[in-house]
Amino acid sequence: MAREHQWMAERYKELVAGGLNWEPPTLESASEPECTVDGERMIMLSANNYLNLTTHPKVKDAMVKATKKYGAGSGSVRAISGTMDIHLAAEKAVAKFKGVEASLIYSAGYTANVGLIPTLVQGKQDVIISDELNHGSIIDGVRLTKAQRAVYPHNDMSGLEIALKSHSDAERKLIITDGVFSMDGDICPLDEITELAEQHNAMIFVDDCHGEGVLGQGGAGIVDHFGLQGRVDFEIGSFSKALGVQGGIVAGSEQMRTHALNHSRSWLLSGSQPPGVAAAQKAAVEVLMTEPEHHARLWDNTNRFRAEMESLGFDLGHSTTPIIPVMCGESRTAKELVSALRSEGIVAGAIVFPMVARDAARVRNQLSAGLSIAQLDAILSGYELAGRKVGLI
Ligand SMILES: Cc1ncc(COP(=O)(O)O)c(C=O)c1O
Repeated sequence: MAREHQWMAERYKELVAGGLNWEPPTLESASEPECTVDGERMIMLSANNYLNLTTHPKVKDAMVKATKKYGAGSGSVRAISGTMDIHLAAEKAVAKFKGVEASLIYSAGYTANVGLIPTLVQGKQDVIISDELNHGSIIDGVRLTKAQRAVYPHNDMSGLEIALKSHSDAERKLIITDGVFSMDGDICPLDEITELAEQHNAMIFVDDCHGEGVLGQGGAGIVDHFGLQGRVDFEIGSFSKALGVQGGIVAGSEQMRTHALNHSRSWLLSGSQPPGVAAAQKAAVEVLMTEPEHHARLWDNTNRFRAEMESLGFDLGHSTTPIIPVMCGESRTAKELVSALRSEGIVAGAIVFPMVARDAARVRNQLSAGLSIAQLDAILSGYELAGRKVGLI
């Protein structure tokens, strides 16, 4: 029998009492619009699979073929003997897709943030200026540095300007923002951020994990959306969202790539991605570049869901992207809504403290290109019933 820890039991009891504990559902099929969750057929509305590429035949075939040719694992970290030609091919494909000189692939978006941020500042002489709603992986990356920190109110450009002015004597200034904010589905004003950064000689770091494949021409991302090519220093991305695979991306200049691979501890000290994953990453990027219909379908579904949910009377917060929250307030209401939706055959995610403020719990919906008209009809009528049941509409 493993040793019991009383303190763990007490902490868990507190979580349960506050309605803040996680009980992750189990997926027993592929992650696609209709899937099996805990033994039941459900419509999936809480996956990052925006373009439904998780099951795209070209992506799956690439993974299988590369596994057959190269084996299951790479055998090393990238820096020693774990860089395979397919890792480099995937990086070239990403750079082409993003319209930048170079990219470097990390084991995840999380490790890209915690690996790259600490390499961009040296210590107290530098400052990191960060949006208050930035993703936890950015916060963790910032915590690994000794730089001064300034946090500006969410998307508040006068707050950003004040922070830049009050740190005008810092040696290096690094502005960090999410592109698409993952809990609210709103986007940062990257055009204004870029103007301010240029006026104050600051570097720009944008986490585009939820913007890639979603925003911009054909899904090229937030830099393309605002037409800022060549003016943003570091674009972070993730293969685990619209691209349907897994892994992290840093895109920018060749100089940035050389710097990142020589200094990022999360890249240097961790085994490289399995060959099958690298091949699937490259295939997913190629699908995005050659099959624009997935991107168009994603936006058709997003626009319809938003319009009909608004007319049902739901509060959708400030979303302008395929991440569309239903604002609930209390954690318990969000959890009740999720279970009422489950009874209607719909899986959506309750987002509660500590992921969002205690009084800002919500059910986060994420639209997918793969949802059919009939599935969207079922989602909307399920939402109407569930919303009435918990008293939100
Ligand atoms: C904004 C943002 N950045 C980074 C990440 C981490 O990406 P990954 O899942 O590839 O580690 C996420 C995923 O939750 C995210 O939402």
